[in-house]
Amino acid sequence: MAEIIREGNLFHLRSARISYVMGLMPGGTLAHLYFGPALRQVNEKALLRHMGVAADGSFTLQGCYLDHLAQEYPSFGLGDMREGALAVEAPDGTNAVDLRFAEAEILNGKPALPGLPATFGEDCKTLRLTLRDARTGLEAQLLYTIFDDCDVIARSASIRNGSAEKMTVTRALSLCLDLPEADWDLITLNGAWAREREINRRHLMPGEQGAASRNGASSLQTSPFLALARPNTDENMGEALGAALVYSGNFLAQANVGQYGTARVLLGIHDRDFAWQLQPGESFQTPEAVLIYSREGLGGMSRAFHGLWQRHLLPPRWVNTPRPVLLNSWEAAYFDFDEDKLVDIARSAAEAGVELFVCDDGWFGHRDDDTTSLGDWYSDLRKLPGGIRRLGERVRQTGVQFGIWMEPEMVSPESDLYRAHPEWCIRIDGREPITARNQLTLDVGNPQVQDFIYDVVSTTLRESGATYLKWDMNRNFSNIGTAALPRDRQKELPHRYILGLYAVMDRLTRDFPDVLFEGCASGGGRFDPGMLYYVPQFWCSDNTDALSRCRIQYGTSLYLPTSAMGSHVSAVPNHQTGRVTPLESRFAVAVSGCFGYELDPRKLTEEERQALRGQVAFAHKTDKLRLTGAFYRLLSPFEGNDTAWMTVSPDQKEALFTLVRGHALPNDVPLLVKLRGLCPERRYLVEQTGEIYGGDELMYSGLCCQLPRGDAASLLYILKAVD
Ligand code: GLA
Repeated sequence: MAEIIREGNLFHLRSARISYVMGLMPGGTLAHLYFGPALRQVNEKALLRHMGVAADGSFTLQGCYLDHLAQEYPSFGLGDMREGALAVEAPDGTNAVDLRFAEAEILNGKPALPGLPATFGEDCKTLRLTLRDARTGLEAQLLYTIFDDCDVIARSASIRNGSAEKMTVTRALSLCLDLPEADWDLITLNGAWAREREINRRHLMPGEQGAASRNGASSLQTSPFLALARPNTDENMGEALGAALVYSGNFLAQANVGQYGTARVLLGIHDRDFAWQLQPGESFQTPEAVLIYSREGLGGMSRAFHGLWQRHLLPPRWVNTPRPVLLNSWEAAYFDFDEDKLVDIARSAAEAGVELFVCDDGWFGHRDDDTTSLGDWYSDLRKLPGGIRRLGERVRQTGVQFGIWMEPEMVSPESDLYRAHPEWCIRIDGREPITARNQLTLDVGNPQVQDFIYDVVSTTLRESGATYLKWDMNRNFSNIGTAALPRDRQKELPHRYILGLYAVMDRLTRDFPDVLFEGCASGGGRFDPGMLYYVPQFWCSDNTDALSRCRIQYGTSLYLPTSAMGSHVSAVPNHQTGRVTPLESRFAVAVSGCFGYELDPRKLTEEERQALRGQVAFAHKTDKLRLTGAFYRLLSPFEGNDTAWMTVSPDQKEALFTLVRGHALPNDVPLLVKLRGLCPERRYLVEQTGEIYGGDELMYSGLCCQLPRGDAASLLYILKAVD
């Protein structure tokens, strides 16, 4: 059971496995004391390590040495020379803020954050601390939630203008974690289109380091996440701290090492292109950040993240619901289709066992390529003479559900929408519009644009009868300006955009509770916990090559669950890499995520079509395991030629094991892979080979794996407990 204990000047959040401790310094500054394994009690004297005058005579506040003080919500301008969490322009133009403790309140459960996605749940406790700056009247309300069932602290801040004049918040991060020393490795996820979320690990160095996005979305290039791991921490052992932001826009994820060798972790909305005006009495709510502590290595950290998202963030309607196996038309037809061709593909897919056919890009306006029509969300009657209504009907007649693609946040300059509403775009008056993929971004912060998006999406869903919507977003911000905001509020645009997006997603998912929404952003360019509050699955990458996907899905699993990773079997040679891989291996990788196809089934051989039927059956047989199981990474594609992972059911009676080899090795001996997460006392049948092993044997001695010959060979095993 999680509890929050207030004792003297200390606040102690404690669950069965973790403690988070804060304290008040003599002047009322809120200090951080501890985050780690659960403590029975904490001595208040521990706070005094920050008192006394430093040898070099640095700044002190009420006897407390600021540049060394571990703080919960540091600001700027008082003498702490490190990066802070909060910056404002006070009415007199100055920006020093001195937050002191005002009040504390302990709540059962967890309040929702206005306008923002956040973790939820009854089985948790929340501490609300109010800090106040006496001179400006500025107030910060800090929320800390501790859960019964995961080793997580969720944090956010609300900044209130308690003065009688206007103030501007220029930085308001969600989390600051000050650690007493810096002997940690920093892990971030970095990449690019078709190469999302590569794992990068290096030892912390003096100064500032980390990850950031300034392009309007959480981005293809990095993720709103960082981890700190001890140098000897590996997948299974050692300390790891993970932090992630429940947000889909610009972010800053930083670790700083200061002059005394202390480390400061900061996470929140990036302050570039950010400023927020507060009239008297108004508040600004930061997104939520979550903080995880693991003593079971990076694997333990990842499982804690996955469990948190699964139980406390993903849409409850979908989280444990088996998803239909889908076939998406993009790599099957691109823009080159008409009604008959799509129906033909759907029929062939249905025959192979597929349950949902998705019509991707190209069905609207006059869209023959990516140069026109975004915004014109009405059927292209040249290709679909009966519109999406008849297409939907005919697809359903083949025996599958119908799904559709939209990119509602965008507009092509060559479109009726742009001609009617050029002022709805993100752009700077007098500057040449900069297009990317020949398109511009609508200002989704503008309520008129939100209504437009709601209308076109709901009309499309109603008209087509679609039970699935792929919500795409394929470009980032440039020329950041909007006609919808006055000149002194232009810097509110990027955050207002994300709030607007959340508002529309909220309305649509409430009004269409049975439509399965899948997110997409040129692949995984906005695959983040913020989006996962609304959509239960996200297209992990435009790269469908099995070997590339091993890296992408392995990296993504560091903090996001495999059950949310859109993952499809595509044709060979692969359209992104030109590589030819066996169908079995493409399946083994794709079925590790949210499974489907991205190919033209009419071009398969009869034997391959037969294999597809078996694959769909396999996917459904393992649905529950894949949705609710615990994920263990076994062999890393970032460290060697092989990738292996497994998913174990909560009762440890069933597991799915996947091994994929990169290039074939000559004169090779069998590979011994040590499994994880099984019950050592149980015996397990490997269904595909008929062999039975002890759980202890599989974990401590290993499973002997003889891979087929050839590049990108794989094994995919179901293990079942037999006693
Ligand atoms: C993006 C998506 C693809 C596909 C195309 C269509 O690139 O990531 O999956 O939908 O758009 O234009």
